[in-house]
Amino acid sequence: MGIQITPSILNADFARLGEEVARIGSADWVHVDVMDNHFVPNLTFGPTMVEALSRATDVPLDAHLMIEDPDAHAVEYVEAGCGSVTFHVEAARAPVRLAREIRAHGARASMALKPATPVEPYEELLGELDMLLLMTVEPGFGGQQFLDLVLPKIRTARQLVEKHGTETWLQVDGGVSLETIERCAEAGADVFVAGSAVYRADDPDDMVRQLRAAAEG
Ligand code: DX5
Ligand code: ZN
Repeated sequence: MGIQITPSILNADFARLGEEVARIGSADWVHVDVMDNHFVPNLTFGPTMVEALSRATDVPLDAHLMIEDPDAHAVEYVEAGCGSVTFHVEAARAPVRLAREIRAHGARASMALKPATPVEPYEELLGELDMLLLMTVEPGFGGQQFLDLVLPKIRTARQLVEKHGTETWLQVDGGVSLETIERCAEAGADVFVAGSAVYRADDPDDMVRQLRAAAEG
């Protein structure tokens, strides 16, 4: 599939989200950060808002659920129009069942790991996952500093994907910028979320193109 850039709208203007997504036409996906004030200490939006957003753009939506009990809610985001739905393994009750349920409803199934969650215990799940998200900040807020300590885990995840021969994409999220994206790509990531780097740029779409060029090396 190659390199994909998925801007996060967390740092966009929430009062003008339709216009904000129209500013990133070069993006492969729009990353929507769903937060419930329980799994993370921040609150964003739910399926009604996501459904409205899906009608406002032709770019597919990539939902990142930072919520408790994703088993009960993930399908709502497929039905809201998301082409990919990511749940956190730290919050899921039954990750295999949940991944299968997301796929059965027609979306790509993805699982996220916080920075301190190891990947090795989940290697047998890779065949169930269209994408694995390795958080490079503690989830909850945009604009945090990239955690280099996650780079060895990205390398391990890439080796495990190769070992199992799965098509699982490896996404990184948190502090990804022109400064850090090459390190992530070199370690083996292929899908890059960037929030503040894109929406604090004068020309967000040009930043998407610059990030892609940097990741492609
Ligand atoms: C953080 C979110 C990220 C956030 C990234 O918990 O999951 O998607 O928007 O923002 P930056 O790129 O500014 O770290
Ligand atoms: Zn995110």
